[in-house]
Amino acid sequence: MRTGRAVAPTDSVGTYQARRCFVLSGFSSRRTLSKAAAIFFSLLPTWAFAGDQTPNWRLNARIVAVGLPDVAGVREVGRFHVGGPIPGNPEFLMATREGRVLDPLRVLVAVGSNFGAPADDPALEVGAILSIDPRAGKSGGTIIVPQDLTGNGGDARVQLYTAQSERFLNRRYNARARTARLAAASGPRYISINNAFGRPWIANAPNGLAGEGSVTVIDPDGAPLANAPSREAGGVFAGRHTDREQAPKAQPSGWLSKLLNYQASGQLTSGGMQTGALGTAFLGPSPDGSGFAVFAAVTADGGVVQIHVQDGVDGLAGPGTVSTGQGTVSKGIGDDPGVIGVAFKWNPDRALYIVDPGRDRLVLLELEDDRRHFTVARTRTISLPQFDRPVDVAAAIPEIANPQFSSHTTLAGGSDLFVANRGDGSLLRLSQDGRLLARATIEIPGLGRLGPDRLRAIATSADAQRIWITIGGEAPGFPGREGALIEIPTFGEHGTATTTQETQGIPADADLVARGKQVFQTDFTPQTGLGPLFNAASCVACHPGPGGASIDENHFARRITHMDPGSGRTLPIDHPNSPVARRHALRDGVAIASAAMPGQANVVSLRMPLALYGIAGIDEIPDSVIEAQAISKGDGIKGRAHHVVDAQGASRVGRYGWKADIATLEDMVANAFANELGITSATVSREAGAQPIEQSSAQIEAVASYLRALRLPDGAKP
Ligand code: HEC
Repeated sequence: MRTGRAVAPTDSVGTYQARRCFVLSGFSSRRTLSKAAAIFFSLLPTWAFAGDQTPNWRLNARIVAVGLPDVAGVREVGRFHVGGPIPGNPEFLMATREGRVLDPLRVLVAVGSNFGAPADDPALEVGAILSIDPRAGKSGGTIIVPQDLTGNGGDARVQLYTAQSERFLNRRYNARARTARLAAASGPRYISINNAFGRPWIANAPNGLAGEGSVTVIDPDGAPLANAPSREAGGVFAGRHTDREQAPKAQPSGWLSKLLNYQASGQLTSGGMQTGALGTAFLGPSPDGSGFAVFAAVTADGGVVQIHVQDGVDGLAGPGTVSTGQGTVSKGIGDDPGVIGVAFKWNPDRALYIVDPGRDRLVLLELEDDRRHFTVARTRTISLPQFDRPVDVAAAIPEIANPQFSSHTTLAGGSDLFVANRGDGSLLRLSQDGRLLARATIEIPGLGRLGPDRLRAIATSADAQRIWITIGGEAPGFPGREGALIEIPTFGEHGTATTTQETQGIPADADLVARGKQVFQTDFTPQTGLGPLFNAASCVACHPGPGGASIDENHFARRITHMDPGSGRTLPIDHPNSPVARRHALRDGVAIASAAMPGQANVVSLRMPLALYGIAGIDEIPDSVIEAQAISKGDGIKGRAHHVVDAQGASRVGRYGWKADIATLEDMVANAFANELGITSATVSREAGAQPIEQSSAQIEAVASYLRALRLPDGAKP
């Protein structure tokens, strides 16, 4: 049993889950999409839905903040890469310091209120982006967001980043832009941040769903982009005012050709923001070689556009690619989906995952480019019976490492996806090819399960351990405070991530931990099972503190092998004192002597004991997170996940021991008993000549519990 889980399965969870059926249908032409999609949708095989064994988790939510009327998109700020404009500008960099508006661990939320900032244009929607510190610090508790934040000296945990107000108009830095009178946020819906080499971008519906939409690029001071590369747009792209007018003929190779390369041509692919922008995602640097950022945006007419920060807006996929639900499927809940979530896969192929709330599916646009702008190579759809008005999608593991693509709307290599169903309030975890891996419902304290039409948007934290969710309506205990930001752990096929201590549902069993500590410190004797081969009499001998690392060379483990001098290949040594050469042996069952080093050993690797603080955390990392990191990151280094079979016979990525050959902390502890103390167990079977005393699994479990509970001593540095 693992401790620290915030969830309980509502269905039975076996070791192997039969995978649910999915439909991944491909179309070579996007013009035929809607008709063809309708056909595939009706062909969905129903037999495959019997015998659902997908794990279904209940996730305990922590209410981070309440008082967020018309709340929509959410995004963790994340760390901005060195080399980008924010770390490159001392004033901007200040804004990323702890407690400041772009502190990497804060969360931005799009809200339909100005929070006291005077509205600049009463004809347009108000709205703001708030920066919220979600850490449940000492002051703890839910943040009650004041309705007026303009004089907010009080709670530094919530700050007004930008709003539909004078200070934040495009004309502040871009007086001559065609969109000079528009604000950074106005009816804001969705947030994507270029953590690689740029800034936060906001998708807005300043005129509701039916009127012109906008996508804005904002500086750390909340105003649209200063020194914008586009004079026409500045930091605000809107309607058809900022469509592309100049196009590169081809990818330029040098500075001169760059200058001569442009021609007046209008759009390369037609399309614009005639309707509200409900979603946006960073696409990385432009394929034109200029190095400028490009974002995709989804509009309320179901079209997708691409926005080049210098050259302006082109189409990508026509209206009707996705559907808000207007006039198509009516579910008896508001037709405005709030957001249309989008996530970008950059590696190894490029694709956009876009929710289609009106047709209960995901649309996948596989992208190519013509060295000037992005084009759609293929459109696919993913339909699952568990989709119920999906409104948002997020990377299970956001791409935080790559300096060209880093953004929480970008999938890390191989990352799964989380999908938020507004219809029934559930969350799904899907593989990139559309397999349903797990489901979850959200338990709100004082309310129970989150019901229909409350879920607004979803984002994953940089550590892939928690999910930020925005919900509409009142949270229990906070009458009159519409809209909330909540935190839940991420989840997968095998369980959930542990999150902050506040959300840990099941406290570690204090008795078990105490017993484990005692066993860890016990000096074993031949009478209690020590030997016949052993390195020390107790765990604590090599892990003093307890839990630390001994630097006494006598406590270093000696891994041995035989290297064939001719071929250079290493071969395992068939000897009881291998592959770890124990230093001590029992003679006649009692007297302690030095153990024989096997004669074939010609390679000895000395292994220093590890400090064990936090060692349990490695057990909690989902396999998929490890696997997702086992990709080339462009620096010539590539990891490989070591799949092993654990003591229960289940396949899992190895985490402990020699080359990660051990899958769980319990197995590691059992191995340490056997290798270091010579104490065998049901897990690690008895060796020849071993003492008849086996370590019971209860003691292994106790020691594992103790290691899980092990905290750094006060004041110690990790
Ligand atoms: C003789 C010294 C010695 C003793 C006794 C010892 N260990 Fe260790 N331990 C080590 C060394 C050396 C390593 C690092 C192994 C390596 O790097 O291959 C280690 C590593 C570990 C790890 C981390 C493994 C990983 O891959 O991250 C755990 C957990 C652990 N020991 C638990 C225990 C427990 C529990 C006991 C008592 C049953 C114990 N050890 C007894 C020397 C010892």
